[in-house]
Amino acid sequence: MKYLLVGGGGREHAIAESLARDGTARLAAVMATKNPGIAPLADDLLIAPEVEVPRVVSFARKTGADLVVIGPEAPLEAGLVDALGEIGIPAFGPTRAAARIETDKAWARDLLVRHGIPGCPSHALFHDPREAARHVLESPGQLVIKPAGLTGGKGVRVMGDQVDREAAAAYAAGLAGPVVVEERLEGEEFTLQAFVDGSRLVPMPLVQDHKRALEGDLGPNTGGMGSYSMADHGLPFVSPADRDRAFEIMEAVVRAMAGEGVPYRGVLYGQFMNTATGTMVIEFNARFGDPEAMNVLPLLSSDLGAIAWRCADGTLGAGDAVFEARTTVCKYLVPDGYPGNPAPSSPIGIGSSSGALLFYANVEERDGRLWTLRSRTLAFVGMASSLDGAEEVAERAASGVTGGVRHRRDIGTRALLEQRCEHMRRIR
Ligand code: AMP
Ligand code: GLY
Repeated sequence: MKYLLVGGGGREHAIAESLARDGTARLAAVMATKNPGIAPLADDLLIAPEVEVPRVVSFARKTGADLVVIGPEAPLEAGLVDALGEIGIPAFGPTRAAARIETDKAWARDLLVRHGIPGCPSHALFHDPREAARHVLESPGQLVIKPAGLTGGKGVRVMGDQVDREAAAAYAAGLAGPVVVEERLEGEEFTLQAFVDGSRLVPMPLVQDHKRALEGDLGPNTGGMGSYSMADHGLPFVSPADRDRAFEIMEAVVRAMAGEGVPYRGVLYGQFMNTATGTMVIEFNARFGDPEAMNVLPLLSSDLGAIAWRCADGTLGAGDAVFEARTTVCKYLVPDGYPGNPAPSSPIGIGSSSGALLFYANVEERDGRLWTLRSRTLAFVGMASSLDGAEEVAERAASGVTGGVRHRRDIGTRALLEQRCEHMRRIR
């Protein structure tokens, strides 16, 4: 089986490792920047923007790819799956229309409303950003401002946390396109990802990501600074009922989309918040999470290629994805100044990463050294039977890296987990 992997970040490195675990699989890869972890796993490499659909399609044809596995959201929005479909190459990922669940936040919110699916916070869509700003100034309560389109996880402003009312209004007014303004929820967030074949969903272990740049959940939102998952595939502040509700919401979304003639295939990523009144939807993504992929994929004991294939052809079975009962902690190293003002490219050194899995992200190999770029650099994942064990492995590896990068030492620590549980107890 020959796979073409699209994307060059930490998530895609994790996908590549999973696909390569089947020793007979062959891999081609296309990515904007040569990822030092993916390149050695691939027989054929195309360094090109992943959104250049005609180039990617002709590379897929040239390399004889049986299935194209798409990591990031941008090529989904650019219509890569549709274009591949036109020449009969199947893909693991949704069509452009189905990817709207991520690429158009207003459409995603509306889908929930249209189908009476629970968990949708109250919200309003403004085509004119100035009207959004007026609404922010005139409405009571705390609000969240979201550009309706893709922002790489960095476009949301939360009132009372990151900005006051005036700053929120000014931010909304300065946006270029349509704006969603919604009620601010309070609670603990978790990620539930599922493999989807158009109608059936197979869930993956729950993960908690850490969006904020600095320890103690301070600083601006990032693409994600690190994440953890527990051996029982749950989280201590998420009850079995919460988890069932989240999964039922995702099942209802997949049903609704099939009913509207836009069947969803690929990975559906649900970001949920456990609040005082129940489990609410923060957003959906049309792909694996980054970093969350690095937590769940190393645990997957089934063959990822076979699962991707079944998602593409609509034959997914309940037992197709089996995950090991181990705890994982993932820590991202990011350039100093990330996300707002990343420092210029500089060399870094990796110390002893003994025991940790290493996933390369936005990093370049030059003159035999690794150089940072503008986005997240690389990640370490610790796996163990306990959270402490996994955190220790990831932390030791992360703190051994030298150069102009930083990471959050608190991710995966017992103390932070206790805080999360305490927060949940206070709310409920
Ligand atoms: P998103 O890009 O939609 O994932 O939003 C980024 C982050 O903003 C989320 O992970 C939440 O922490 C926060 N956020 C988004 N929507 C809300 C909301 N309605 N209430 C509170 N926080 C939110
Ligand atoms: N970890 C958040 C995301 O992948 O969007």
